[in-house]
Amino acid sequence: MAPVVSGFSKLSKSDKINWLVEHHFNNDQKTIEILKTYWNSDEKLQQLHDEFTENTISNYYLPFSVAPNFLINGERFTIPMAIEESSVVAAASKAAKFWQSRGGFKAEVLSTTKVGQVHFTFKGDNTTLKSFFETIKSDLISSASHITKNMEKRGGGIIDIELRDKTDEIENYYQLHCSFGTADAMGANFINSCLEQFADFLTNAADSYDKFSDDEKDIEIIMSILSNYVPECIVKAFVSCPIENLPNVEGLSPKAYAQKFVRAVEIAKIEPYRAVTHNKGIMNGIDAVVLATGNDFRAIEAGAHAYASRNGKYTSLTDAKIENDIFQFSIQIPLALGTVGGLTSLHPLVKLALNLLGKPDAKQLMKITAVAGLAQNFGAINSLITTGIQQGHMKMHLMNILNQFEATPSEKESLIAYFKTNTVSHSKVVEQIEKLRK
Ligand code: MEV
Repeated sequence: MAPVVSGFSKLSKSDKINWLVEHHFNNDQKTIEILKTYWNSDEKLQQLHDEFTENTISNYYLPFSVAPNFLINGERFTIPMAIEESSVVAAASKAAKFWQSRGGFKAEVLSTTKVGQVHFTFKGDNTTLKSFFETIKSDLISSASHITKNMEKRGGGIIDIELRDKTDEIENYYQLHCSFGTADAMGANFINSCLEQFADFLTNAADSYDKFSDDEKDIEIIMSILSNYVPECIVKAFVSCPIENLPNVEGLSPKAYAQKFVRAVEIAKIEPYRAVTHNKGIMNGIDAVVLATGNDFRAIEAGAHAYASRNGKYTSLTDAKIENDIFQFSIQIPLALGTVGGLTSLHPLVKLALNLLGKPDAKQLMKITAVAGLAQNFGAINSLITTGIQQGHMKMHLMNILNQFEATPSEKESLIAYFKTNTVSHSKVVEQIEKLRK
């Protein structure tokens, strides 16, 4: 077991690595080599990455891919995607191509409001608290003007603050439930700074409010933090086409295809075991764009899954139906994304990704990202109801297996040709590599 270490973060990068290798890798020098292989030779670029977090010892690569041919509201996009999972980008590209000749994707932002809360306890009469809140509300808002000034210039700011009484759930528990517009920023820092200001103002104002008893003056702030649940920051994306334009798969007429597709979505709507996997597939597309554009995929994941349970039961984020022989497929999802602040102006690949998308504003990025999720879900369901998922997956996985066996370029060429007409499985690939090498 490694010893407890103090002051680790203050060690130089080399000393951190030496400590790690000594205590976790039996002094194996190869470990140092591996870590250094991933260092960037451009020292400035490396330093930038080192300073993103604490205790950085190397870089962790993910493929940075692009999916072309996305037609969204009549405009063509090549979407950047950072993801390691084989077949996600291929499925997105295939879905993009399919829909671009059927009118493309349509997308609209329905709302952009974000929320943050000051959680506090108040021991006293709730009607006195309510009138105190009404008295201080406008000063409470203007107390944050030094923080909101710039945001207001960009079209954002504080939308409202409500006092919420939660005492029926936890004794003496209240909230300032605050809503914000954050323009093109994801807004976490802005919201959290406003909330901490509100918390300070609240306690000071309570202290000097003469209608409060001593106990009532003693408001205790528990915490002030934004919420990643953003059911009022919603984007919708959709596709539709006459059912006769749907894939004509062997053994499945376009009409039967449409019905089977709708049935697959209905299952995800009522069956949480399926819904989670269904939505995971959507998030394959969404996270990949979120990551490539320097946004916080954990926040997006948390918000999306909470939204999927908003009616008390976890359900599908997408919907499909047939109306008057028209197939319609849509997604509605909360996406609190930013195109300024955070990594967006710092990480060279993030900047490149945003340039590739034509420097979108936050609303445009919400639309593009929702489309990537819808496309991914279309690709997954299309495979599931026709060939099954493994065919496509294993084709992409073939390359991973070949790399694992350090196949040479000519071995790769002949095995890729072989598996064009043969089913890929791990054991079959190994068998064929061994056969080739004999
Ligand atoms: C795999 O990463 C995602 C799928 O399982 C999604 C789905 O089943 O809809 C293919």
